[in-house]
Amino acid sequence: MNRYPALLIAAMLTIPGAYASGGSESATASNPKWRTECGSCHLSFPPKLLPAASWRALMGSLDKHFGTDASLDAATSGNILAFLEKNASRGQPETTGKPQLRITQTRWFQSEHDEVPARLWKDPRVKTPANCAACHAGSENGSFNEHNIHLPK
Ligand code: HEC
Ligand code: HEC
Repeated sequence: MNRYPALLIAAMLTIPGAYASGGSESATASNPKWRTECGSCHLSFPPKLLPAASWRALMGSLDKHFGTDASLDAATSGNILAFLEKNASRGQPETTGKPQLRITQTRWFQSEHDEVPARLWKDPRVKTPANCAACHAGSENGSFNEHNIHLPK
């Protein structure tokens, strides 16, 4: 299945330990507050998908969260941030020097997905690249395994 070995290797180097082992059992860290609070508007994105600096920046600006207000009380947000930092990706930071807030704009995401036809990103059933569940059947459980991808037909 490694049709793009160079890209896969690049992705593994960027997020070591996350998908190098096959993806299925690698992003399953969970925390009840994170599941409910960060899973009410979209998938509760697994902490392994971004480095700690990105999670800190996201959690520090929840009142201005991609055009919406996702504020939490200090105790809940501290609990969630500790969980995200502990399980974050240990990959290289982005070369821009600024923490990347979007998973979908990281280099590893873009190289993993550069073969996905442009029309699919715009498909009404997908709407946004952040809608992982539209294509990854196991994403609710943190699995993005290449054997469990079902593209909208
Ligand atoms: C009130 C709704 C709401 C809540 C609650 C919420 N988010 Fe979001 N989040 C959004 C919206 C809207 C977007 C932008 C989606 C898009 O552009 O497709 C987003 C995007 C994101 C992205 C970037 C996705 C990408 O494009 O790669 C991350 C990461 C994220 N949220 C993390 C969190 C975390 C962590 C929490 C919990 C602390 C949280 N969100 C809670 C509404 C919410
Ligand atoms: C429009 C469909 C689509 C969406 C939406 C999508 N993906 Fe994917 N994803 C794919 C396809 C197709 C592949 C396989 C690419 C290939 O091998 O050419 C893939 C591959 C991956 C891989 C590598 C899997 C492996 O076993 O090598 C990861 C990790 C991944 N996606 C994560 C995500 C995350 C996280 C999101 C949401 C933020 C997401 N994807 C959104 C279609 C999608």
